[in-house]
Amino acid sequence: MRHHGTLSRVEHYFDRTAAKAWEALTSDAPVSGIRATVRAGRDRMREVLLGSLPADLTGSRVLDAGCGTGALAHELAKRGAQVVAVDIAPSLIEIARNRTPGHLDITYHAGDLADAALGRFDHVVAMDSLIYYQSPELAHLLGALRARTSGTIAFTLPPRTPMLMAMWRVGKLFPRGDRSPVMVPQSAARVASALKDEAVPGRLKEGERVTSGFYISTAYTHVGLRP
Ligand SMILES: C[S@@+](CC[C@H](N)C(=O)[O-])C[C@H]1O[C@@H](n2cnc3c(N)ncnc32)[C@H](O)[C@@H]1O
Repeated sequence: MRHHGTLSRVEHYFDRTAAKAWEALTSDAPVSGIRATVRAGRDRMREVLLGSLPADLTGSRVLDAGCGTGALAHELAKRGAQVVAVDIAPSLIEIARNRTPGHLDITYHAGDLADAALGRFDHVVAMDSLIYYQSPELAHLLGALRARTSGTIAFTLPPRTPMLMAMWRVGKLFPRGDRSPVMVPQSAARVASALKDEAVPGRLKEGERVTSGFYISTAYTHVGLRP
């Protein structure tokens, strides 16, 4: 698998280094100023992604790809979806499972979102989980999802703003031993070109950009070609 170098960094980071911070950020517990703006931005982005799917998801099979602690999976299940939620970090899957009310239909898996064994889906959401992949890896992952999704893939990527590009360049200077994953800012044109190189069929559309303190992310949808 071409994305495995990044994937092992992501797993190490979310399963160990950042698991506690991520648990706090995604809980109802009060957080400090900067984190509160991030939380508000993420709340807004969740709404944006949900808004790109049908309001009533009754009977639909939906994948939450890179579900983290599960907030979006919960919202999808509340709309009637049969949700499969996958994340490479088992400790986050455990938190997500513990936070899930018993009446919601969610199946959790610890593993790679590109795993074909997860089955076929009507829709996929991937909120801030594809943000660490260079465009060829990203296109490969989107291609793997496209091949088993009939409807919309709703996902987010960091935009190529001057600030994020500067942070990215600094990130590239991290010592080799630093195992944190680095976000890769993307543009719609770059992603579209990578999808073309990978021969992924369908249409990419750039949606709303959410900016809230240090949270900055752009929503995208990808829909398949009509038969
Ligand atoms: C920034 S967090 C976002 C979590 C969640 N979607 C949310 O918005 O709260 C990114 C998540 O994507 C997961 N992830 C990244 N690449 C993945 C992959 N290839 N397979 C499964 N999970 C992945 C990470 O483990 C992490 O939990």
